[in-house]
Parts: sequence; structure tokens; C-alpha cells
Amino acid sequence: MSFHPQMAYGAAFHKSSRALEDEGPAFVYTPENRARFDEIVTRYPPDRRRSAVLPALYLAQDQEGYITANAIRHVAELLGITRADVEDVVSFYTMFYTRPVGTFVLQVCRTLPCAVNGAERVTESLVERLGIKPGETDPTRTFTLLEVECLGACDRAPVVMVNDAWHECQKPEDVGKLIDDLRARGDAALSGCHHVVERKG
Ligand code: FES
Repeated sequence: MSFHPQMAYGAAFHKSSRALEDEGPAFVYTPENRARFDEIVTRYPPDRRRSAVLPALYLAQDQEGYITANAIRHVAELLGITRADVEDVVSFYTMFYTRPVGTFVLQVCRTLPCAVNGAERVTESLVERLGIKPGETDPTRTFTLLEVECLGACDRAPVVMVNDAWHECQKPEDVGKLIDDLRARGDAALSGCHHVVERKG
């Protein structure tokens, strides 16, 4: 395995083309998420309502697990923008998934500082441990493995992000314990050398 700028991201989860297929019943926020959305948009001037698209999409993804075409339509309608506007945002940011992912999404940074500190070997160790390749989810839908660009903690390379938690200074021999801990203790294993992203209202 080698790092290459043209290497595809987890294409199975991050669709870059427009016009996602409609699927299932219409998406609407839960009452709790609608209340959060209503509060979030108050942070922006009325004529800049569209600026709330990122937190609006995070709410949709937290609710459904990934971004559906119906969720894109709902967000577009609430913000008064087009579906294409929302799809462009979804396709630009790799943190939005357009297909179901596992309970734990492991994102290995492959950008230079992490690469020169052994990220490739960390990925190989995860591939061996999980039996899946980058861009895949295991059959139990517990783990999804992705390779991504800089996660913003370059001084603690190599970095593996598990859901919203940074696990820093990872070595190939560390990730086996990380996987075992996640299997045994679930979210409680997301502790220690990590931070939690504060993104909810
Ligand atoms: S290069 Fe990996 S976190 Fe920045």
C-alpha cells in the first residue's frame, strides 16, 4: 500500500457526484433536532441563513447515520437554498457520508506528517485486524475504515480519528488494543489522548 494524492477516499461513503438517489420516506428532523436547527439559524443574519448548512447537515447525519437525498432536500428547503447547493457541500467534505457506516468510523490521516510517522503501517495494521480495506465496513457494521487528509493534530502524528475522537501518536501495535477496547467497551474506549468535537448547539 502506498500513499498517493490521486488515491480515492472512501468512495463508498463519500459520493462526489450530484443527484443522490431518493430513498425511503421523506426525511424530517426529530422535534429535538428541529429545535436545535431553529436555534442554530438564529446565529446567522437572516440573509446568511445558508451559512448554517454545515451544522444542519451534521444534525441530519447524527439523526440518520448518513446523509440521504431526502435529508438534503429537507435541509435545502429549511435554508431556502437549492438541493444542488447542499449536495455540493456534502460532496466537498469527507466527514459527510452518503452511505451507511459502522458504529465506529476509523479515519486514518495520510497527509505528510502522519505519513512520515508511520500512518501507512497503522492503516495496514487496521486492515489486518479488521479484515476490511479502506473504504469498507465490516459485515457486523461495527467498523468503517477510511483514509483522510490532515485531521489538524499534525504534531501528534500519526492520528486516527474514531468518530469524533482523535487518537494521537498511534503505532501499528497500538491499534489492536484500540479495536479490542472498542469492541469490549464501546464509546467508553474513546478516552485518553483525544478531544471531542464541539459542534452541537
Ligand atoms: S498530517 Fe495528520 S493530522 Fe495533520
